[in-house]
Amino acid sequence: MSGLIREDDLEQIKDRVNIIDIISEQVMLKKAGRAYKGLCPFHQEKTPSFSVDTSKQLWHCFGCGEGGDVISFVMKVDGLDFTEAVESLARRVGYAVHYTKTKSNNLGIKQKIYEINAAAAGYFSKVLFSPMGRETRDYLKSRGFGREIAETMWLGFAPDTWDGLKNYLLKKNFLEAEILKAGLTSQGSNGKSFDRFRGRLIFPIKDIQGRVVAFGARSLNGDNPKYLNSPETPVYRKGSVLYGLNLAKTAISSQSAAIIVEGYTDLLALKMSGIDNAVATCGTAFTLDHFKFISRFTDDIIFVFDGDAAGIAAAERGLELVSQIRLPGDNTLKKLLNSYKIGVKVLVLPEELDPAEYVAKNGVENFRLLITNAKQFTDFYLERIMIKYDINDDNQRQKAIAESLAFIKLLASAVAQEKYLKRIAEMADVSLETLQIDFKHVVSDKRHTVKAKPNQPLSKIFRNATSVAEREMLKLILQIPGKGAFLKELEPTDWQNQDNKQLFAVLKSKLVGKGKLNVQNIVHELDGNQKNLVVSLIMEPILVEDKERYFLSIFFKIKELSLERQIKVLIKELSVADMKKQKVLEKKILELQSKRREMRDQVV
Ligand code: UTP
Ligand code: MN
Repeated sequence: MSGLIREDDLEQIKDRVNIIDIISEQVMLKKAGRAYKGLCPFHQEKTPSFSVDTSKQLWHCFGCGEGGDVISFVMKVDGLDFTEAVESLARRVGYAVHYTKTKSNNLGIKQKIYEINAAAAGYFSKVLFSPMGRETRDYLKSRGFGREIAETMWLGFAPDTWDGLKNYLLKKNFLEAEILKAGLTSQGSNGKSFDRFRGRLIFPIKDIQGRVVAFGARSLNGDNPKYLNSPETPVYRKGSVLYGLNLAKTAISSQSAAIIVEGYTDLLALKMSGIDNAVATCGTAFTLDHFKFISRFTDDIIFVFDGDAAGIAAAERGLELVSQIRLPGDNTLKKLLNSYKIGVKVLVLPEELDPAEYVAKNGVENFRLLITNAKQFTDFYLERIMIKYDINDDNQRQKAIAESLAFIKLLASAVAQEKYLKRIAEMADVSLETLQIDFKHVVSDKRHTVKAKPNQPLSKIFRNATSVAEREMLKLILQIPGKGAFLKELEPTDWQNQDNKQLFAVLKSKLVGKGKLNVQNIVHELDGNQKNLVVSLIMEPILVEDKERYFLSIFFKIKELSLERQIKVLIKELSVADMKKQKVLEKKILELQSKRREMRDQVV
């Protein structure tokens, strides 16, 4: 397949899908009046503010402000792009999608790369189980990896030739340029392309849907680098995929915990020992993207780091990245600790072992025990701060205390803060009373204040009269059929709030025929914030009986407020104008004032 999904297909699919059925798979919905309510799957909450409107076939969360139609729900919950989400819905209702000729080339090449990657994985696997792969199979066997795990994980072997894979793919009618784009070949200075992976054990890396997006390739003869990985391609962004997540997601969700290891082989070893809720970061640190993926399935993450020096360094680097901590002042960690409500635990393995070696040496039961007793992230992090400094040196001790207090400040719960203050007091060997005084200073110090950008309910953002009126106007235009025509009566200057002004411009540009708006179609053409705004506007109830009258009131109110602003500007100009200009301005002001009175009289 390639190209764009035909527009009438979109309509057909939307008609056949019931938004309630789709969302119910993820959210417990209860009927409440005309709408259904439930706990929002996109942020943590205890009281339901996630709402689905069947008549409009839209969802919206009044807590975090996210919203959209059934397609955007599937996109968000399954991590799909638009086309993929539509395809997934089409499959569920048994509808065959048609494609227009490819408008966006990128879509075509992405699809092509998935196909090439799948073919390449097939080739590598075939070679592994051919006579050419015997040594590699022996190597795998020596590490306890037999045929079964090799097949489950699609392991393969890239033969030590310059064009084995390339020729295989060319024979399958893929183009040289496409193979290069997939990162499977490199281009030499003579312009010729050749196989990137040669004489290496191959780990295909799949995305959450099980599509091969990249490869990790381990050298078997001590060649450097030990692992050669695919470059970034249109389907692969480093730091956005977790190795094994496609297989582990169900277990992660049912066991409500995810184990994060560093190595491909660690994942294999754990899997073979019956631990199936593990995933591996493929040679990158853990990223916020990773976090978002995982947090769809569980709130509890356990990082397992190798016990060697590199592993501990990675733990620190990794955790720095886990939280992207730049203390103080960055709110990312706070977000993770508080908003995501993710419990992060850390395990650094003893005896310089990695998970695969640990399990081989000490057995899986001992590994499970370590996992159960893994340290809370907060404890671990505090200890790492303390270890950095020499507590016997007064100067350094002060630094250790300052750094750890700034960290503790990020915790939301006062109980947790109290608990960790005690721990810091112990570790830094100071009295709790002194520490509490220090902590008060840290807390009141503005420089340490985290600039949080909370997901405020929109009602709080739109506080003043102007914003309320503008918002109501947009809401009514979107909800009352036939009111789109009024957009033509409004000017950009009639809007004060930037978001509203932008949305107004978009809506105005979407008017068709006699000022008709097709709201369903507009939703998809908007970017994140605008889409959320539109959906919340469509879903918000109109709380008045006489909608016509209310509409006109709001309309004139906006005009009045707009004139008021214009008058203010002119009055300002008046104070610096020369005589001649003053005359003109005064006349203009009088005109506007009279217009404004007219408008005000219309507002009921
Ligand atoms: P390790 O060196 O611990 O490899 O690197 P490993 O997975 O345990 O492999 P074995 O057990 O020695 O065979 C951990 C991870 O770091 C990435 C890979 O993802 C690897 O699995 N890595 C390592 C690279 O990307 N490039 C390298 O050169 C080395
Ligand atoms: Mn390792």
